Amino acid sequence: METVVLTRQHIAKIVKEKGFDHFMDRMISRLGEAFRAGGHGGVTPAREGFLRGPGDTAIIEWMPHHRPGDSVTIKTVGYTPYNPEEHRLPTIIGSMTRYDDVTGRLLAVCDGILPTAIRTGAASAIASRLLARPDSRVLGLVGAGAQAVTQAHALSRVFPLERIVVHDIDPAHARSFAERVEFLGLDVRVAPVTEIEATADIICTVTSVAVGGGPVLLGEHLLPHAHVNAIGADLIGKFEVPLHVLRSAFVTADHRGQALREGECQQLAEGDLGPDLMELCADPALAEAHRDGLTVFDSTGFALEDHVAFDVLLELAAEGGMGDHVQIEHLPEDALNPYAFA
Ligand SMILES: NC(=O)c1ccc[n+]([C@@H]2O[C@H](COP(=O)([O-])OP(=O)(O)OC[C@H]3O[C@@H](n4cnc5c(N)ncnc54)[C@H](O)[C@@H]3O)[C@@H](O)[C@H]2O)c1
Repeated sequence: METVVLTRQHIAKIVKEKGFDHFMDRMISRLGEAFRAGGHGGVTPAREGFLRGPGDTAIIEWMPHHRPGDSVTIKTVGYTPYNPEEHRLPTIIGSMTRYDDVTGRLLAVCDGILPTAIRTGAASAIASRLLARPDSRVLGLVGAGAQAVTQAHALSRVFPLERIVVHDIDPAHARSFAERVEFLGLDVRVAPVTEIEATADIICTVTSVAVGGGPVLLGEHLLPHAHVNAIGADLIGKFEVPLHVLRSAFVTADHRGQALREGECQQLAEGDLGPDLMELCADPALAEAHRDGLTVFDSTGFALEDHVAFDVLLELAAEGGMGDHVQIEHLPEDALNPYAFA
C-alpha cells in the first residue's frame, strides 16, 4: 500500500498547468463550502507548539484536524521570523500529512508552505466578502512579506480592486511588493500607515511584529466602513490591531479558542466577540448588518483550512495524473511479524 507524495515539483506543475487564479478560486470556493457546513463534522483543537529560537521568538507547531471515520490531517509548521534575513528562507515553513482514520495508515504527504499561503488568503477573501463593502476598491497592506502576496491575490479575486497601498517596516520589502504582485495588474503604491488607514476599504495586517511590539495599525484614521483582516497575531503577547479599534468594531474569529489565546482576541473577553466565521458563513445575514461599520476578522489560521487545502491539492494532482506513489510504511504481509519482509 502506497502513500501519495506531492513534492514541490508536483505543486509547481499543478500551479503552472491550472494557473494561480484557478487554484485560488477553487480554494475560496471549497473553503467557503466547508465553513458553511460547519467543517463537515470535523474536529479542530487549538494548535500546540514548542517555542524556540533567541528569546523564544520562533515556534514549531502541530495543527491537527480530525474527520471521524475518514481521516486526520496534521500540519507541522515553523514560524521563524528571522529566516528571510538570516537564512534566506521563508518565515513560515511547513509540511502536511494525512492519515486514514480507520486503519491509521499514512495516506498522503505534501508541502505546507504554498497551501498555507493560499488558504490564508482564501479565508480573508471569505471573511471580507461577508463584512466589507462589495464595491471595495482600495486594499491596504501593513506587512509586505509572503502572506501579503496571497492576501492581495485572494482579495483581487472577489473585489473590484483598483489600488493597493502597502507599508512595511523594512522599506525594501515594501518596495519589492509591486513586482511580486505584478500579475494582478493593479496600481501598487508604498504609503505610510496613516495613508493606508485614510484610504483603504479593506486592510490586511500581515506582519511578523514581535511579541510586545504591536500594534501595527494606529486606528486613528480608519474609514468608518473599513474591514480589517488581522493575520499576523499567533503568539501570546503578539498583536497588530489596537484595543480601541477592536472595542469599536464587530469582531469575528476563525477559531474562537485559538483567537482568545493567541490572536487579536487575546485583548478581549469572550463576550466581546461576534459569531465566528463559520457561523457567519452559515447565516450571512448576521454579517450583512455590520458591513457599513468597522469590522475585524481575527485570523489565526486553523487546521480545517489546511485539511481543505490538502483536499484541493490532492484533487488537482489526481486530475493532472501527478504525484509519486511511495511505500513509506513497513506493512508486513504477516501483520503479527514486524520482521517479515516480502
Ligand atoms: N492567520 C493565518 O492563518 C496565518 C498564516 C500564515 C502566517 N501567518 C502570520 O502572518 C505573519 C506574516 O507571515 P509571512 O509569511 O508573510 O512573514 P514574512 O516574514 O514573509 O513577512 C512579514 C513582514 O512583516 C514585516 N514587519 C514586521 N514587523 C512590522 C511592523 N511593525 N510593521 C510593518 N511591517 C512589519 C516584515 O518586515 C516582513 O516584511 C506572521 O506573523 C505569520 O505567523 C498567519
